[in-house]
Amino acid sequence: MSGGCVLSNVIASQTRLHAAYGGVVPELATREHLRNLLPVARQALRDAGLTAGDLDAVAATQGPGLPGALLIGLKAAQALAFSLGKPFLGIHHLEAHLYSPWLSSAPNPNLNPNLNHNPNPPHADFAQFQPSVSLIVSGGHTLLVQVKGEFQHGVLGSTVDDAAGECFDKVGKLLGLAYPAGPEMDRLAGQGNPRAHCFPRPMLHDPGDDFSFSGLKTSVRYFLEKNPALPDDPARLRDLCASVQAAIVDVLVAKTIRAALRLGAPCVTVSGGVACNSALRRDLARACRREGLVLRLAEKKYSTDNAAMIGILAERKLLARLPSTSLDAEIEPSWAL
Ligand code: KG4
Ligand code: ZN
Repeated sequence: MSGGCVLSNVIASQTRLHAAYGGVVPELATREHLRNLLPVARQALRDAGLTAGDLDAVAATQGPGLPGALLIGLKAAQALAFSLGKPFLGIHHLEAHLYSPWLSSAPNPNLNPNLNHNPNPPHADFAQFQPSVSLIVSGGHTLLVQVKGEFQHGVLGSTVDDAAGECFDKVGKLLGLAYPAGPEMDRLAGQGNPRAHCFPRPMLHDPGDDFSFSGLKTSVRYFLEKNPALPDDPARLRDLCASVQAAIVDVLVAKTIRAALRLGAPCVTVSGGVACNSALRRDLARACRREGLVLRLAEKKYSTDNAAMIGILAERKLLARLPSTSLDAEIEPSWAL
């Protein structure tokens, strides 16, 4: 990351590895992090055309997350910072998600065309569009956050049970789809009828900003107990996926827009793996247009977990001259936003 531009963003995906087990296996995730860390760091420097000595600082996710995986990244980054004599920054994973909608990989012909430089550095944009309401939707989190300004944010609401991505994954599992099922449900739903079945929209009319998705999953389970052959019929499977997706998306869109209007926030931003969902992107765009709100959706590659969002937040902290993190700091697996 340099001046708001993404110089490189290398991702070592573990999706296939965990798919065989139907979910993330913490021990395997830790082992894979250990295996991938140095090759990924070397590749990131190569892509950026830099050496380690060129770095101004080293950053890593400090929390929240799986303890083993956090430990590998944090300790390796602290060791690198120590050896280079450069500051280290421990970054909050969810705070970094707030910045993913401001990352862009649009090429800038004035810079090295092989690199992902951003012609509109997001730093200026970020300040211009505050306050905003930010939706973070992934396999582990469903959060509505009020962003008042740089490093000033407060959680408005979160899920009281399953996360939105977890709901996609668990319903997909009931339907016999591979983990993580969100992308495949999205694909099937695109060819189905969202009004074929009416599933509950949990907490849609609750005045608060919290979410709940486990009841929706349970009602799909009861529905499938009564219709066990449905997943074998491709057309009915597509309709079911579209109907479940519509229930999840309706709640996410309605509660996000309602919070933005209530707080007078002119801008809505969205990130996290579920932000890749086509219906969510489409319906949020429509709703924001209707209400006169600015929408910043993270590009798909910056919606799922990535290093660029960690980099941009670290750079913002350096620019704001916030103190660096101790080289002895420990992981924060349950760090609240
Ligand atoms: O942010 P992420 O990559 O990892 C964490 O959970 O931290 O999000 C992964 C989640 C999974 O639950 C996956 O099923 C969901 O995002 N997901 C989607 C789509 N793409 C990924 N859900 C619905 N539609 C999609 N297109
Ligand atoms: Zn995440």
